[in-house]
Amino acid sequence: MNLIRVKDYNEMIERAGEYMKLQVREKKDSVLGLATGRTMVGVYERLIEHYKNKDISFRDVITFNLDEYYPITRENPSSYYQYMMEHLFRHTDINTENIHIPDGSTTDPLEECKSYDKKIEAVGGIDLQLLGIGRNGHIGFNEPKPVLELNTHLTDLDETTIEDNASAFSSREAMPQQAITLGIKKIMEAKKIILLANGREKSEALRKMTRKEVDPRWPASILQLHPDITTIADEEACERLE
Ligand code: F6R
Repeated sequence: MNLIRVKDYNEMIERAGEYMKLQVREKKDSVLGLATGRTMVGVYERLIEHYKNKDISFRDVITFNLDEYYPITRENPSSYYQYMMEHLFRHTDINTENIHIPDGSTTDPLEECKSYDKKIEAVGGIDLQLLGIGRNGHIGFNEPKPVLELNTHLTDLDETTIEDNASAFSSREAMPQQAITLGIKKIMEAKKIILLANGREKSEALRKMTRKEVDPRWPASILQLHPDITTIADEEACERLE
């Protein structure tokens, strides 16, 4: 694993934006695996800047988001669908047909999960997967469990995840307790992965992720087996590393 230690959030998003820019410049029809959450807001700002400066175009880019709450409608302002529109897509020239986000309003989540994996396979897999990391070591919403699920699946959200993300909803009760998430297999099959960790609250997850053992109670630890992963972490997130 290539670990790049940076000073702070700004340096982290600068590097991540540059990395993603190069990917899209090298392969105009890149298949990007995208994440949401607080960490990614600045990364998408950088990407929009690169787009506005005409360094990149999203015209041929295909995207697959990692996850979506369940149940939730696309219109719900707290949905990841709205997050992506707000923070990235509506500022770019991306073709809306190339945007994929799990449908949180489906009445058949099992079918939605299966067809999501098939859609990824149909375009030849993910070229670059962007990942954040949960305080509990989750990637996407692959939560700490005795076993890791390979395929896209419906999952119960962990208590820490609910605690960390409830502020995006009007109340804790208004937050869906489940989500549809890409499984470990499609994440691990991505040709390249870039993972971002910032802040002290991520330091334990980062330590467990780099401990040279795979522990399903810290799902990100499996990423150590990926042949091309770059982790960019700030000083606070690196605090517990040797
Ligand atoms: C969201 C996702 C999650 C987040 C993680 C960190 O699509 O996949 O794994 O990346 O929960 O979230 P923040 O950045 O809000 O700390």
